[in-house]
Amino acid sequence: MITTRAETIALLGGTGKEGQGLAARFAAAGFDVVIGSREAEKAVASADALAARIPGSRVRGCVNPTAAQAGDLVVLCVPFDRAAALLDECRALWKEGCVVVDTTVPLRFDASGVSVLDLPEPCGSEHLSKHLPDFVPMVAAFKTISAHTLGEIEKPLDCDLIVCGNDAGGKARVIGAAATFAGLRPLDGGPLRHARAIEAMCALAIGLNRRYKAKSARFRVVGV
Ligand SMILES: NC(=O)c1ccc[n+]([C@@H]2O[C@H](COP(=O)([O-])OP(=O)(O)OC[C@H]3O[C@@H](n4cnc5c(N)ncnc54)[C@H](OP(=O)(O)O)[C@@H]3O)[C@@H](O)[C@H]2O)c1
Repeated sequence: MITTRAETIALLGGTGKEGQGLAARFAAAGFDVVIGSREAEKAVASADALAARIPGSRVRGCVNPTAAQAGDLVVLCVPFDRAAALLDECRALWKEGCVVVDTTVPLRFDASGVSVLDLPEPCGSEHLSKHLPDFVPMVAAFKTISAHTLGEIEKPLDCDLIVCGNDAGGKARVIGAAATFAGLRPLDGGPLRHARAIEAMCALAIGLNRRYKAKSARFRVVGV
């Protein structure tokens, strides 16, 4: 039987690879899950498929702005270069007490491999946080766990998750939600600017996966 959790998780761009993996983990952990998309029909189809895959789960789909209004934790799962515009679109819609969880990574792919884009701010999450009203905290999380790994819901994640944010309460709620995922140990990574490190770790994981022909490179911190 699935445990019932109090918070609703909305995933903007939840029809995509990372969003579907996270939605599956949250749904299996007992959260109400809302899949957001630019297209309502696509969101509903994606939600229905996930609900059928996880019996007893509660998953629904709608357009991104409606999902943003519904979420207690709103997870940003669109490509980094689309994320600021989506946050601007949702600016007047956030409800009091919600937290935006940033999974996006500002990556550049070229002949030399994958690297993190240079931005005026210390990291992508700091850049995107400027597109939120002051009362909505941003927390960076899940950037180092691949969609492939998340999607294999029958397997424990067997790794750590470093969570960064400036709002202690918001960060604690994301850590609490992530701790419900089988085999995942969330760790407080400090302020949001430290997401620079986890964005670099994402690039590192992609490179490791390529060189070792793997799909699930991820990280474990020892000594804490
Ligand atoms: N894939 C991974 O393993 C992984 C790991 C860590 C972090 N991430 C991060 O997670 C985010 C999503 O990655 P992904 O691999 O899931 O990407 P994706 O599958 O290519 O796209 C995710 C969703 O974004 C929406 N989208 C695409 N283009 C858009 C646009 N122009 N405007 C608005 N929405 C658009 C689409 O939803 P609709 O068409 O339904 O609107 C799509 O399903 C990225 O920022 C990535 O850096 C990914």
